[in-house]
Amino acid sequence: MVQLDWSNLKFGYIPTNYNVRCYYRNGKWGEIEVSSETTINIHMAATCLHYGQEAFEGLKAHGCKDGKVRIFRMRANAERLQSTCRGILMPEVPTELFEEMVTKVVKLNREFVPPYGHDASLYIRPLLIGTSAQVGVHPASEYLFIIFVTPVGPYFKGGFASSNYVIIREYDRAAPLGTGRYKVGGNYAASLAANKIAHDKGYSCEFYLDAKEKKYIDECGAANFFGIKNNTYITPKSSSVLPSITNNSLQQIARDMGMKVEVRPIPEVELSTFEEAGACGTAAVISPIEKIDDLENGKSYVISKDGKPGPWSTKLYNHLRKIQLGEEPDVHNWVTVLD
Ligand SMILES: Cc1ncc(COP(=O)(O)O)c(C=O)c1O
Repeated sequence: MVQLDWSNLKFGYIPTNYNVRCYYRNGKWGEIEVSSETTINIHMAATCLHYGQEAFEGLKAHGCKDGKVRIFRMRANAERLQSTCRGILMPEVPTELFEEMVTKVVKLNREFVPPYGHDASLYIRPLLIGTSAQVGVHPASEYLFIIFVTPVGPYFKGGFASSNYVIIREYDRAAPLGTGRYKVGGNYAASLAANKIAHDKGYSCEFYLDAKEKKYIDECGAANFFGIKNNTYITPKSSSVLPSITNNSLQQIARDMGMKVEVRPIPEVELSTFEEAGACGTAAVISPIEKIDDLENGKSYVISKDGKPGPWSTKLYNHLRKIQLGEEPDVHNWVTVLD
């Protein structure tokens, strides 16, 4: 076991021993290769560098009380990557190849999986890039699929605690028929300026409305939004939102707990009616929302009056964490257990 300060890990990059790689050439995927190089050697005219032909995923493996390691929803991540591949004309990574590579890279770096009890996990980052040279705007003919891992601590320093968001109208992260529903780097480049404005103003993250009408809720930075009222979990239906696997899991758990679930456009003004709200994603699971400010019209939607996470958000969070850690039955087959 490596000696790391497990309780004080940041959500940053720490080198591990190995990554795994697979090349797509002549119309097919090759053999899985194990590498301890942290760099990649690609052509300067590679399509990933010029035309944004790159996609990634993010999922986690958890060190559990019983000494086992549990990987959360890798099949769903494989399927989302395939959807992204169709979106930006890259060859799909087959589910079996994706799962084999994820499992392999976690096993190879077993000693970097944070032990149970430190609020830390092994973050798994699959990356697919177009590598062959192209000067015209066309898809590459060759690709590299690589997966690396790194131990991470909580995304927000305070862990499961409420934070504040600000609606930013000067920047859109994605257009309604653009690439927002795919996990491609361009969406994140488009979000950097808005994110900086939010941080400079002292907010935890930026909050996006739909790009066309600026009327409906889209996303909270790099996380999905949900609101709760009248025993109902409500989350935006929007073509420019990334289909969050955490959100999908929370919807299922909400149903399992007897809540209603609505996936529909949510007008900004409805924010004032929620009893609870949160941002959700792999990094933090749920980040409860205390308030959302709309600086342009001077509105402040205070969702948590006492500044604390609400009861439903807490229940949903705890239940999902327990499934990830093998402390609740995995009734939906979400977890891959490694001994
Ligand atoms: C833009 C965006 N929305 C939502 C999410 C949450 O998705 P997931 O729950 O699959 O991590 C992420 C993180 O992956 C993201 O980058």
